[in-house]
Amino acid sequence: MRGIVEKLDFEGMGVVRIGKKEFHVPFTAPGDEVEIKKWRRKKRRLIATDFEVVKESPERVPPECPYFGKCGGCALQHIPYSEQLRVKGEKLAKHIGMDVEVLPSPRPYGHRNRIDVVVSTGGIGFRRKGTWWDAVDIEWCPVFGEASKRVLRSLREFIEDFKPSLYNIRENSGFLRYIVIREGKFTGELMVNLVTSEGELLEEFPNYFDYATSVYWSVNRTKSDVSYGEIERFWGSEFIRERLNDVVYLIHPNSFFQTNSYGAVELVKKVGEFVEGEKVLDLYSGVGTFAVYLAKRGFSVEGIEINPFAVDMARRNAELNGVEAAFHVGEDRDVENLGVYDTLVLDPPRAGLHPKLIKKILKEQPETVVYVSCNPATLGENLKKLLEKYEVETAVGVDMFPHTPHVEAVVKLKLKV
Ligand SMILES: C[S@@+](CC[C@H](N)C(=O)[O-])C[C@H]1O[C@@H](n2cnc3c(N)ncnc32)[C@H](O)[C@@H]1O
Repeated sequence: MRGIVEKLDFEGMGVVRIGKKEFHVPFTAPGDEVEIKKWRRKKRRLIATDFEVVKESPERVPPECPYFGKCGGCALQHIPYSEQLRVKGEKLAKHIGMDVEVLPSPRPYGHRNRIDVVVSTGGIGFRRKGTWWDAVDIEWCPVFGEASKRVLRSLREFIEDFKPSLYNIRENSGFLRYIVIREGKFTGELMVNLVTSEGELLEEFPNYFDYATSVYWSVNRTKSDVSYGEIERFWGSEFIRERLNDVVYLIHPNSFFQTNSYGAVELVKKVGEFVEGEKVLDLYSGVGTFAVYLAKRGFSVEGIEINPFAVDMARRNAELNGVEAAFHVGEDRDVENLGVYDTLVLDPPRAGLHPKLIKKILKEQPETVVYVSCNPATLGENLKKLLEKYEVETAVGVDMFPHTPHVEAVVKLKLKV
């Protein structure tokens, strides 16, 4: 069956209409002519699983990554960046109910400050698209940048010299499992975290990464295919630092940090612009990215976060920047006295806000709510409820994830008069 891709859907797949059927075809662009050989039904949609692009659309741009199409990381490198932003804007508009401009990532390549590279018998790289067992061997990742080349070259040299065993995921055997590379884009500091199974790591390992600020060895004793573990040892600095504008943050192997440093600058700036009054509660405060930035701007800030380690990092971040901000371990559904804050900043996980929290917001009515979301669908659902008492004053998208269908939104809500 042949057809022409009409547009991209919100997951970044090309939409082809043939007769009464609508197919979603990965890695295609509007204007492509495709031959669909096989498909499967998933969540009431027909996804092409075997297809050929018989004629490429003139709208395509050359992907910068040699592994594009094989690697599971990026879906849209062949789509012009302006078009990626337009589709993300449409997606946000659908869920927020108004036109939304999406600010571009200041760098569409080299922006990622973290990659989790599989080290396995199948290859050293990223999971092959659509598999949990196979890996695409990579020399580097253009979305992360040049430093990935150096680290992966060093790792291969270490493997070549000492022949440690590599993990076989099907058999749950082998020693080396992941290498996580993190880089402070504005500080140049580099962290390497080798994740292994139980065993002995040779003393020589850190010598291969003597240019890194921080080298870690973590052990994952489980069968789970995760890129973290219990920290066994580290060499060099305990943390690396990243700087967003005038605020410096610490990064630890087991702590979260916004993955696009350049986009994160735009994000904190927008949150800073939208916040009003004096007293601010940053709920889901993580490592204090917004709270510390806002405290530096003179707001009186508290943060609440479920993860004690993140709270510890947030406190360190406040101290490092010489600002006062109080961070507490706590849960969204237990927060009290929301009415004492002028602005409530919310950056929940993908599942969105706890229903009890929504009830409390509607009852206690802080004047301004700034909702940061990485999931437009749950944002849209939560907004529907909040709009009972609030109205959207302004909303903007920030492209934290170029070449993927994901987008971050920042929505400013004001209490209705
Ligand atoms: C999207 S992240 C926010 C990250 C934060 N803004 C930062 O930049 O570090 C969501 C955060 O919510 C926290 N979290 C998840 N469930 C929670 C809950 N029930 N109550 C409070 N915090 C929660 C997670 O640990 C995570 O740090």
